[in-house]
Amino acid sequence: MKGIILAGGTGTRLYPLTFALSKQLLPVYDKPMIYYPLSTLMLGGVRDFLVISTPTDLPLFQKALGDGAELGLRISYAEQPQAAGIADAFRVGAEFVGSDSVSLVLGDNIFHSPELPDVLARSMKDVDGCVLFGHSVADPRPYGVVEKAPDGRVIGIEEKPSKPRSSEIATGLYIYSNDVVEIAHSITPSARGELEITDVNRVYLQQGRARLHSFGAETTWLDAGTYDGLLDATHFVREQQRSGGRIACLEEIALRRGYIDAGSCYSLGKKHKNSGYGQYVMEIASDTRWGRLTYVAQ
Ligand code: G1P
Repeated sequence: MKGIILAGGTGTRLYPLTFALSKQLLPVYDKPMIYYPLSTLMLGGVRDFLVISTPTDLPLFQKALGDGAELGLRISYAEQPQAAGIADAFRVGAEFVGSDSVSLVLGDNIFHSPELPDVLARSMKDVDGCVLFGHSVADPRPYGVVEKAPDGRVIGIEEKPSKPRSSEIATGLYIYSNDVVEIAHSITPSARGELEITDVNRVYLQQGRARLHSFGAETTWLDAGTYDGLLDATHFVREQQRSGGRIACLEEIALRRGYIDAGSCYSLGKKHKNSGYGQYVMEIASDTRWGRLTYVAQ
């Protein structure tokens, strides 16, 4: 299973915040925004990533995330010169996807849920078609609105409807079988000139191959792409971390999943030991559950 993180666009909804800095690199409390969607796919077991962004911003993402090797990941990068719609990710990333199935997450979507690792691992196994992830919102009109049958099959999907038929929306997290690349090449741009992910999903719906997992109340989903969304996300992360844990700590996920050992984790934390984040990484590496208590003293 490959993973694409879409971090392009000009972030116009956040101007002037995004005049000089990409939206997905803005801070969400203690980390750049892109840490959150990256951690989401990592929790599902994805290790091979493509980050798509504009030619101007791409070097900044490379600086923020590197090639992933230190975390036991592979992170590669591809340019999307203009905002051409979410489904364009599968044209830009066609070579990267190769013959694999692929997951896609939008760079401004933040998920937090105890069920995430299990749900994602299950949904990513033997995928045939697409899996969408729904969440109920008070005002569904700015989103892709979904309807499903009792067996979980998607029976309706509409992009930004003025009269939504349900309160459940498709979040910016998607899982596809390999034919998504072909489907993304077959659709035409919408009236707003973009390759809509909803049009891709509708092809699967028509084939009876679109499924929806509805996240319940225990799952928090935040779209950090607006002023209020960004502030809500920052408050949420701060609140969650008050008890001492950390959300979207990439080193911690890599350690817990066995991609890196405690020693490497400790060294990664030590590089940033002046920050609370670095200290946290050193602490979890020193936890006896991961062995190697000797690293604490270094
Ligand atoms: C996009 C999708 C929409 C989805 C939303 C989730 O909308 O087109 O279906 O519900 O992401 O964040 P956009 O944010 O590009 O307007």
